[in-house]
Amino acid sequence: MVGSGGREHALAVVLGRDAEVVVTPGNPGIPGSVDRDPEEIDADLFVIGPEAPLVGGLADRLRERGRLVFGPGADGARLEGSKAWMKELLVEAGVPTAAHGTFTEVAPALGFLDTMTPPFVVKTDGLAAGKGVVVTDSLTEARNAVEDYLSGTAFGDAGRTLVIEEGLVGAELSVLAVCDGTDTVLLPEAQDFKRALDGDLGPNTGGMGAYSPVPLVDDQLLETVRTEFVLPTLAILRARGIDYRGVLYAGLMLTPTGPKLLEYNVRFGDPETQVVLPRLTSSLTDLLASAAAGQLDPSVTCTGDAMVTVVCASEGYPRSPRTGDRIDGLEAARAVEGVEVFCAGVSADSAGADSGGADAGGAGALFTAGGRVLDVTGRGANLQQARERAMRAVAEISWPGMQHRSDIAAAAVGERP
Ligand code: AMP
Ligand code: GLY
Repeated sequence: MVGSGGREHALAVVLGRDAEVVVTPGNPGIPGSVDRDPEEIDADLFVIGPEAPLVGGLADRLRERGRLVFGPGADGARLEGSKAWMKELLVEAGVPTAAHGTFTEVAPALGFLDTMTPPFVVKTDGLAAGKGVVVTDSLTEARNAVEDYLSGTAFGDAGRTLVIEEGLVGAELSVLAVCDGTDTVLLPEAQDFKRALDGDLGPNTGGMGAYSPVPLVDDQLLETVRTEFVLPTLAILRARGIDYRGVLYAGLMLTPTGPKLLEYNVRFGDPETQVVLPRLTSSLTDLLASAAAGQLDPSVTCTGDAMVTVVCASEGYPRSPRTGDRIDGLEAARAVEGVEVFCAGVSADSAGADSGGADAGGAGALFTAGGRVLDVTGRGANLQQARERAMRAVAEISWPGMQHRSDIAAAAVGERP
């Protein structure tokens, strides 16, 4: 398992049900963490967590060594590495998505913006750690984003090409599709909370919480996603000579005129993974190995249990997270019935220098070392119980300035905080 966040912790736990798992670099909260070059590790299956090593061709390099790898090569990872290329492919595949234009020059970009109606959506073409998207009702703010992106001041080269999109409205849904290059099987759906503050206020983040299942989703909708979104995408990729073996994460918006694709990611969602994978009752290891081998075994089963994860983040996240604070109450949180806590940005010392290594998973104190620090995950017979357990466990955890949302899955269970 390659990676170091809460997503990788959850993957390691679920793969660990029937496999011996080594995580690199991992972090001191993930048992089995070793800080080693993945290409130097001998394993029967490699699972690559984050997008950056995928975009950088790690899966290709491992495959060249004859390894079995779950994760696309650099060619397929371009779906996440270039939004302009992704949109071009979607149009070609006939996948429903927001109307868009791609620009490298200010004047035509501003001209296109003037033809749009709010909300205005401006995105960097390249990777910007989830922060390169502006959604705003203000034309001035959208025009400023265009200028900041194209000049390179906001996101360097990642912003020198940008995509302007039609603003869509509706509920968002995350669907993780396990692909073997030709065929696909969908994992249970999840809903993610992207804004920092309760009530979907504040800046966009990597995700402040998630839950699964999502009550407004039925089998019909998932079948539509499989047949009208994921399969045509795999077919177009294949036509371009791309053998996509890995997870295709479809970020969808359920608009009044049907589901539309906001984006593809080429990796598991974080924190969606933390609520989706623990629900599986069939072997994740066998599933990912079959996809990696190009022979998908689509027999996925999952429990009717519900899961809710609440992200505990550092003060200042996402803009400038404060780090180096001692985390208290982790054991008490883990003692709450049905609760697991996955570790994301943690370190074994307050300097935060050592994010992996030999002492990983030991009993020592943990310190904050990133923006998103812990994913407190509750399981229950229904969403209400899962949410109640997660929130009870969150109440046990503290460090100076810790922030979390209190409305994760609240609307889904008919509550307003
Ligand atoms: P992305 O990284 O493309 O998923 O965008 C991040 C977030 O911005 C999404 O989860 C949505 O909340 C929002 N967003 C992206 N594209 C659109 C759009 N075309 N219309 C409305 N909101 C959008
Ligand atoms: N939770 C959103 C993402 O993983 O991109």
